Amino acid sequence: MTDLDAFIAGLPKAELHLHIEGSLEPELMFELAQRNGVSIPFDSVEAVRAAYDFSNLQDFLDIYYAGANVLLTERDFEDLAFAYFQRAAADNVRHAEIFFDPQTHTDRGVSMAAVMEGLLRGMERAEAELGVTSKLILCFLRHLDEEAAFVTLTAAAPWLDRIEGVGLDSSEVGHPPSKFERVFARARELGLKLVAHAGEEGPPAYVHEALDLLHIDRMDHGNRSMEDEGLIERLAAEQMTLTVCPLSNLKLCVVHDLKDHPVPEMLRRGLHVTLNSDDPAYFGGYVNANYAELAKATGLTRDQLTQMAINSFEGSFLSDADKAARIAEVRAYAAQ
Ligand code: ADE
Ligand code: ZN
Repeated sequence: MTDLDAFIAGLPKAELHLHIEGSLEPELMFELAQRNGVSIPFDSVEAVRAAYDFSNLQDFLDIYYAGANVLLTERDFEDLAFAYFQRAAADNVRHAEIFFDPQTHTDRGVSMAAVMEGLLRGMERAEAELGVTSKLILCFLRHLDEEAAFVTLTAAAPWLDRIEGVGLDSSEVGHPPSKFERVFARARELGLKLVAHAGEEGPPAYVHEALDLLHIDRMDHGNRSMEDEGLIERLAAEQMTLTVCPLSNLKLCVVHDLKDHPVPEMLRRGLHVTLNSDDPAYFGGYVNANYAELAKATGLTRDQLTQMAINSFEGSFLSDADKAARIAEVRAYAAQ
C-alpha cells in the first residue's frame, strides 16, 4: 500500500452514488440463486466475473438486471444491503445514500414490502453494528414510461417517511429527463429530494433538462457537462454536487483511459465533485479504489482528495449539524 493509498483508506467519506443492486457480488449471487432455486446462466463465480466486459451502459444494464433476478425475499435484500455496508465500512465510508430500483423487482412479482423492509433492516443493522448511517433514494427506470414511475411512487407511499429522495437511472440516451417532469414535480410536492443521472452517455442538453425541468438537488455523473462552457459555469455558480464514478466510467467506456478522466478539470473549474463506486461488484472496486485509481492515473493531490471527501458530506442530505460534524472529522484527519 502506498502512502496515498493509506491516506485514502483512513479518510472519512460519504458515498452518494451507489446502486444497491450493483453491489451484488458474484459469490452472493450464487448463494442466493441456490437458496431461492433460481437458475443463473453461469457455472462459476469466475465465469460471472469473466462476463463483466462491457462496451457501453446498455451492455452492462442487461447483465445487471439479469443478476438481480436472484433477489426475491426480504432476507435477500437485507443480506445484499448489509454486505455492501460491510465493504463500505472497510473503506471508512461513514454515511451512504443508496439507490434502489424497485421496478426491477416489482415487475418480477417481488413485493415492494420485501424490497423496502429488507433494505431498511440492512440499513438499521449497518448503523447499529458498523456505525455507518444511510439514506435511501428510490430510482425510476427511465427506459419505462412515466406512468410506471407514478405507480412505483404510489406503491412506496407506506415507506415515504423512510425514503429520502427519488432518482432517475437506467438507459439514458433516448430517455431525456423531460419524460419524467410530472413525476418529479409530484415527488417534490411530497417533500422528497431529487437527483437524476444525466450526462453519463447523454448530451449536455439532458443535464440542462435535469436542472431546469426536474429541479434536481444533486446530479449523478454529469461528465458530459464538460462539453458546454455555459453549463460548467452554471454548475459552479449553483454549487451543484456531482456524484462522479471513475471506475464505472472506465468500465462503461465513458472514458477510455482514467488519465483522461474529467475530474481534475472539474475541480479546476470549481465544480463540487464527489467520488463514488456506482455498481462496485460489476466495475471492479469500491469507493477507495475509485479514489486511489483516479489519483494514481491523474496525479490528484491529498488536498484534492480531501476536498472531495468534504464535498461528499457537504453534498449529502444529512442535516447541517451532521454535515458540520463530519466535515470537522475530515479536516482533523487531513491535518494530522
Ligand atoms: N443503473 C445502475 N448503474 C447505472 C448507471 N451507471 N447508469 C444508469 N443506470 C444505472
Ligand atoms: Zn449510477
